[in-house]
Amino acid sequence: MSQDTVGTSKPGAENDPKIDSNLLPFGKSGTYHQDYDLILHLPIYVQAMNLHLKWVREVSVASPVIFDAGGGTGIMQRAASQMRPDGDIYLLDLHETMVRRAIQNGSHRDKISHCNVVDMRINDKPVSSESVDHIFSHSVLWALKRPSEFFFEANRVLKRSATLAVSTLSRIDWQLINGYLTYAEEKLSVALKKGLVTASQKQNFISSNYYLLKHAHSPLAKQELLQLGIRHGFEPVEVHSAYNVATANGIRPLFTQVLWKKVGSIFDFNVSPKNEAMSCKYT
Ligand SMILES: C[S@@+](CC[C@H](N)C(=O)[O-])C[C@H]1O[C@@H](n2cnc3c(N)ncnc32)[C@H](O)[C@@H]1O
Repeated sequence: MSQDTVGTSKPGAENDPKIDSNLLPFGKSGTYHQDYDLILHLPIYVQAMNLHLKWVREVSVASPVIFDAGGGTGIMQRAASQMRPDGDIYLLDLHETMVRRAIQNGSHRDKISHCNVVDMRINDKPVSSESVDHIFSHSVLWALKRPSEFFFEANRVLKRSATLAVSTLSRIDWQLINGYLTYAEEKLSVALKKGLVTASQKQNFISSNYYLLKHAHSPLAKQELLQLGIRHGFEPVEVHSAYNVATANGIRPLFTQVLWKKVGSIFDFNVSPKNEAMSCKYT
């Protein structure tokens, strides 16, 4: 993919009034970007990452173009780049703070784009249609007001028969939120005892997660997520439960992780990206 379509775009997206204030923990006025990488102390994150990496390894074309949509501080993008040195693995993210962190952490500047995944424009140019071999996106869809817009864009930029991998928040309730926060608290307490994290980092991580879970726009039940993909021209290939945590009703998944194959093009059938907003409800 040429530099004119993918590169580090002008800063400024976070000053855009359209940017969702519910995502502030990631932005300039929040501090989550500083401590986001504590997530590597959670084995449930590492399991989800390993499944994404397996799917990256399985992309059958040589020298694939791959997008990590909402790639944050670049944990998965760098791991995927190591796994597929033949490929071009680009990180796309809305928040300048996260993108900067990714660069500090070792992601190549020319493989990073500061952009909105529901409108894959890079340096004010749309990513070329049918130019990408695989997209993966972990823990991003829940933040979108209209996740259908992401599927529409993913379908547009993916080549025919390319693959899309998404892991995102299920419909959640307070049991699940408590289950996840208790799990994170336990794992980070172990890291704290070993001197691997500080108390304030741990506190920042837990409070940012609590805030974001409370403000998630689009938690999706497994069937809702599958149907969204199907309506946008994708066929499910693998469906997994992820982020399994202990609750008062036993072990339950906080996330669903799906691999789809593109089987139809949005150019071939009439799908509007604007037709569905999901609601966030806690029961
Ligand atoms: C929970 S983090 C996940 C980061 C990364 N995918 C990972 O698994 O480590 C969510 C990321 O999604 C990004 N994000 C949220 N909405 C976005 C959007 N509309 N376009 C691009 N990135 C977005 C945030 O900036 C943040 O970096």
